[in-house]
Amino acid sequence: MDYKRYVAKQLKIEGISEDEIAEAVAVPPNTEMGDYALPCFKFAKIMRKSPVQIAEELAGAYKADEVISEVSAVNGYLNFKVNRKGLAKETLGKIKKEGEKYGSSKTGGGKVICLDYSSVNIAKPFHIGHLSTTVLGGALYRIFNFLGYKAVGINHLGDYGTQFGKLISAYKRWGNKAEVEKGGIHAINELYVRFTNEADEAMEKEAREYFRLIENGDKEANELFEWFKKITLAYVETIYEKLHIKFDSYLGERFYTDKMQPVVDELREKGLLKESQGAQIVDLEPYGMSPCLILRSDGASLYATRDLAAAIYRKNTYDFEKCLYVVAYQQNLHFKQVFKVLELMGKEWSKDLVHVAYGMVSLEDGAMSTRKGKVVWLEDVINKCVEKAYRIIDEKNPALENKEAVAEKVGIGAVIFGALYNNKIKDIVFSYDKALNFEGETSVYVQYTCARAASVLAKAEAAGYKPAYADLQPCAAEFELLKALAAFPDTVQAAANAYEPSFVARYCVDTAQKFNKFYLDCKILQAEEGTREYRLLLTEATLITLKNALGLIGIGVPEKM
Ligand code: ARG
Repeated sequence: MDYKRYVAKQLKIEGISEDEIAEAVAVPPNTEMGDYALPCFKFAKIMRKSPVQIAEELAGAYKADEVISEVSAVNGYLNFKVNRKGLAKETLGKIKKEGEKYGSSKTGGGKVICLDYSSVNIAKPFHIGHLSTTVLGGALYRIFNFLGYKAVGINHLGDYGTQFGKLISAYKRWGNKAEVEKGGIHAINELYVRFTNEADEAMEKEAREYFRLIENGDKEANELFEWFKKITLAYVETIYEKLHIKFDSYLGERFYTDKMQPVVDELREKGLLKESQGAQIVDLEPYGMSPCLILRSDGASLYATRDLAAAIYRKNTYDFEKCLYVVAYQQNLHFKQVFKVLELMGKEWSKDLVHVAYGMVSLEDGAMSTRKGKVVWLEDVINKCVEKAYRIIDEKNPALENKEAVAEKVGIGAVIFGALYNNKIKDIVFSYDKALNFEGETSVYVQYTCARAASVLAKAEAAGYKPAYADLQPCAAEFELLKALAAFPDTVQAAANAYEPSFVARYCVDTAQKFNKFYLDCKILQAEEGTREYRLLLTEATLITLKNALGLIGIGVPEKM
C-alpha cells in the first residue's frame, strides 16, 4: 500500500495535482503525532491562506476510513495515522494464505514477453561480461511469469560467422579429438586463440574456405561445428544450473541463415535498400544515426541482418506483447538501428521492442578481459566466491551441517546479487569481500536474516508455540516491518515496469533490515502469550516474503547458517 498516494487521492487542493501532493507527504521523524504528515506551508501562497488554516480545513474535510484511522491538524501540519491493526490483519492474512505465491498477480493475463538474454557465443569463453545479461534476464523471466505473463526465454546463440572456419582450421592443424573431449570449452578456446595469434594469409584463406563449407552444408565441416556447439552448450548449461537460469529456445544466429533473404527482398521492395561502396545499407541519416549495414560487398549478411530476421520470426512465432533484449549498452546503436529499420519497414510492433541495456562488470583486482586470451571465466568467479563463502561459514559456525551446500547458496547468491543490486545501467566493480559481508547490503545478510527467522520458528515449534494472529496494535518496529511486507507486490510490479530486478534486490535488504530491527526491539519467544504468537506470525510472514523475493532473483535460502 502506497499511503502517500492514498492520502493524496482523498485530498483535493485546488491548483495542485495529486502527484504534487503525494510528493509533499512525508514521514515525520517522530511518529507519535502521525505516521505521515503533510506540511501545509507549501500551499500557503497559492491558496492565499495561512498554513494553520489550510491544515484545519483539510482535516475537517478528510474522512477517516479502514486505511487511515485518524487525521488531525497541528501547527500547519496535517497528520495521518495509519490503521495499523487493519494493515497487520490484511497483510499477515494475505501472506499466510498465498504463501509462495505472495507477491504474484495475474496482471499479465498470459500475454507473451520474449526475453533475449545471455546469448552466448559458441566456442568462446563464457566470461564475467556475460554475468549481467544472464542473471538480469533470468530474473526478469521469473518476474514476468510471477505477474501472469508468459515469458519466453531465448538464448540467441552466437553461432554464425567466419570464426567457426578459423576454429576448424585450427583444429585440423593442431587439435585432436581426445584432447578436445577432455579439455572441453577451454581446449576449443585455446585452439581459437592460437589461430588468431599465429594465422598468416594462407591460413586465413583456408579458414574462409572452411566457413564456406559449413555454409554449403559440407558434412564434415558441419559435424565439427555441431560438435563444438554441443561442447559449448553442455558447458554453459552447468553454469546456468548453478545460477538457476532457464531458456525456452536456443535458436541462434545461424537459424536465420535462410530467413534473411526475404528480409532483404522486403527492404528492397519498400525502397529502403541503398548501395554504398558496394555494400547494401539502410540510410538512417535523417534519424541521426549511421547507416544500418545489411549486406557486405561480398554479399555476406551481418549481425543486424540476422537480428532483423529474428525479430520478425519472433513476432510471427510468439505474437509477443514485448520483446526485450538484455544486452550491454555497448550495443545501444545496434539496437536503435535495428528497431528503426523495422519501423521504416512498417512493422507497427517495432515499438514493442526494448533494449534493456546494462553496465559493465569488472573485478576489484582489475583483472578484466582486455589482454588477448586472458579472460575472466564466470565459472572461476563463482568457484572462488563459493570457496570464500565456505571459509567464512566454517569460521563462524564450524559445527554447521551441510557446510558445502550452504556455501554454494551463499557464494552463488553473492555473485548474482553483486550483479543485480545496483541500477542495471551502472558499471559495477565486483568485490568478493564486499559481496560476502554478513553485515553489508548483501545477499548473505538477507540469507542470514532468513536463517535467523527460521531458527526462531523452529525453536517455537519445539516449544509447542504456533504463529497466530491477535488483535494487537503494532508497535513502531512491527509497523515498519509490516509496511515493508505489504509493499512486496507493488515492488515486483515496479521491477517489471522498469525492467529493474534491482528493485527486488534492494527490497530484500530493506525488509531484512526492518526484520532485524524488530528482532532487536521486540521479544518474540519471551513475549507473553498472544503477543508471542502474533510475533511468530510476523516472523513467518517475513520468511515467506524474503524467500519469494530472493527466489525471483535466483537466490536460494539455506535453512540454517
Ligand atoms: N552474442 C552477442 C554478443 O555476445 C549478443 C547477442 C544479443 N542478442 C541479440 N539478439 N543481438 O555480443
